[in-house]
Amino acid sequence: MIRYYERQKTFWLRGKSYDYVMYVNGAGFLQNLHYGGRIDENDLGELIRRGDLLCPPQNVNGELALDAMPGEYGFFGRGDFREPTAVIERHDGASMSRFRYVSHEIRNGAPRLKGLPHARSADATLAVTLRDDFSPSEITLYYVVFDGSDALVRYAELKNAGSEPVRLKRAFSFCNELPSGDYKMLRLFGAWATECRVETTQIGRGVTRLQSLRGVSSYGLNPFAAIMRDGCTETQGECYGAQLVYSGNWAITAEKSFSGSVRVQGGVNDFGFSWELGAGETFVAPQAVLCYSGEGLGQLSREYADFIRERIMRPEFACSHRPLVANNWEATFFDFNAEKLLPIIDGAAELGADTFVLDDGWFGERNFDNAGLGDWVVNTEKLEGGLKTLIERCKKRGLKFGLWFEPEMVNEDSELFRAHPEWVIAKAGVEPVRGRNQLVLDLTRPEVVDYIFNSVSKILSENDIAYVKWDFNRDLTEFYSASIPANRQGEFAHRFILGSYNLMERLTSAFPEVFFEGCAGGGRRFDAGVLYYFPQIWTSDNTDGFERTRIQWGTSLCYPVSAMSCHVAACPNHQTGRTTPLNTRCVVASLGATGCELDCSKLTDGEKAEIKSHIKNYKQIEELVLRGDLYRLSNPFETNMFCEMLVSKDKTKAYVAGEVFLGGPFGGYANVLRLRGLSERKTYKIEELGIIASGRTLAVLGVPVPQLGDFGAWAWHITESEE
Ligand code: GLA
Repeated sequence: MIRYYERQKTFWLRGKSYDYVMYVNGAGFLQNLHYGGRIDENDLGELIRRGDLLCPPQNVNGELALDAMPGEYGFFGRGDFREPTAVIERHDGASMSRFRYVSHEIRNGAPRLKGLPHARSADATLAVTLRDDFSPSEITLYYVVFDGSDALVRYAELKNAGSEPVRLKRAFSFCNELPSGDYKMLRLFGAWATECRVETTQIGRGVTRLQSLRGVSSYGLNPFAAIMRDGCTETQGECYGAQLVYSGNWAITAEKSFSGSVRVQGGVNDFGFSWELGAGETFVAPQAVLCYSGEGLGQLSREYADFIRERIMRPEFACSHRPLVANNWEATFFDFNAEKLLPIIDGAAELGADTFVLDDGWFGERNFDNAGLGDWVVNTEKLEGGLKTLIERCKKRGLKFGLWFEPEMVNEDSELFRAHPEWVIAKAGVEPVRGRNQLVLDLTRPEVVDYIFNSVSKILSENDIAYVKWDFNRDLTEFYSASIPANRQGEFAHRFILGSYNLMERLTSAFPEVFFEGCAGGGRRFDAGVLYYFPQIWTSDNTDGFERTRIQWGTSLCYPVSAMSCHVAACPNHQTGRTTPLNTRCVVASLGATGCELDCSKLTDGEKAEIKSHIKNYKQIEELVLRGDLYRLSNPFETNMFCEMLVSKDKTKAYVAGEVFLGGPFGGYANVLRLRGLSERKTYKIEELGIIASGRTLAVLGVPVPQLGDFGAWAWHITESEE
């Protein structure tokens, strides 16, 4: 709901459980009055009275009075000494700004952002246009509102309405002011094979900044922050989320002022950034999804999960059956031929998988990671008869066929590089940094995007391919393109990601029936931007039955479990060397889009039976993975046990899956798990335990932790009971 109160010049935005109120104050600035839990509309007068105290209109012209105003967009060089939201440098070098309200518009639905991922649908959008006092610059702030949701999408459009060019030195997407209080900031940090670790720290005075300077959203920090009010936990208290629908260099900052208020901002990283806006041109900053929860982090995560499934993912795939993949990577790495793959296909079919995916190594001279990238032509020496032989075998076994690509990359030892050495990101005379022996293609050049589109399209149209795994195995380093003028190199990083989005958009539109899965050496590019094109992402190269509980837990903070690709792998684990029971690996892999990452042709009968039954069980709970609500019951970072629970929206079904670690809790009634998310009034049956009890009792008394030994895991299926 969006309402405008003409007389008070006040905008009232309302979602499922939040209110967001702002007004045009006496001085003409757009000032925040409230963002948080539901308040009473009759108290508008009181809100305005408080707002007027923070920014007395008589003091703002020529006085240092803006430092305490909770602005909807921070100014620069006019007495607000916190970090600004935009810095716009004019041709004379001046960049002070002070934006005042000009007009607004309330429209139905969601705006479509050309070239940028965005919320696909919404109930209403408010666009407020502000104009600078000192230059012909305009900013339009967008607020996209969803009834029945606590997500609020924000972004900004900056326009040069003058006749001289201007240079944007910062152009964040949003500015959000939280009232004085003690807040903590939760972030998801990591590295290869240890994605989405959770760290929470107090927000102190000064600026706390999360960011990526790797050219991708990155393992280092995920483009998300949760700002938690004092006392907020998994199950209670207030918190706010800020998530960027963006996959390039990004920043989210939280600046705590003298008074204790916190200004949260974010968008495209301004470090090394600049963007020239010619006369009449506009710059659209990527969308940010703010979210409010008055019931702890768990509720925040469920709101994000719903938002991403319902508004970001491609609707035809979001909640439909996902390919149940058997992938050959950990089975063969680069060392395969048709003879080796055919039995793996047979084995995959026997297990009940429905898609076989041929990973890296099928093209060009790709026999190791130092050659072939960029040459998307089947290596028929390795695969006699091309892909056809494999696809035919898949069809015969009732499987679909999937294929791996790494479209944005190139090896120097490749036909592509030999033909077009100028197409890589590099600066003449500066030795480029290599990552996994590869360079990155310069996607700021349209001819490069065209080449990739054509060569990948050729393979996809000549073969019956139902699934694509789209990888991206290194960070960007040189941030330079010879095709961009010297004074505009600051545009490179953002232009690169626009090139990637363009490629993703073109390929997914040209092959609408193909299911694309994102990957970037695991979760290097796990973000809402990628999820707009690819509904699922390979969560991590780490397939260890213990490590995965942490990676998946962290990732679930702001992404639905259906966005996570979770495969059962062999032991000892390739990444950690750890051996965990096969059942444990299956249980952990059931909490996401499941699949197999092992040699399906070399399993013992016992292993086969176990994986078969995992796949069969998974099919029964897939609906919960795709559409259910996640309740995190036992935190693997803080306790020696991991447990999560999925509950259907109508609360008639649930699934609980957990694992005890080394030295975990003993079984028996001494340690119980309190189930959450069930209806208090309904009676449920836990199939595996034969327990029949009400949702209320299961929440209050809990269920005993099973006695399983180190790295043992369990899964319980819960249904509403008629008994
Ligand atoms: C990355 C991916 C793996 C696999 C390899 C292939 O590391 O994360 O799953 O596809 O590349 O080279």
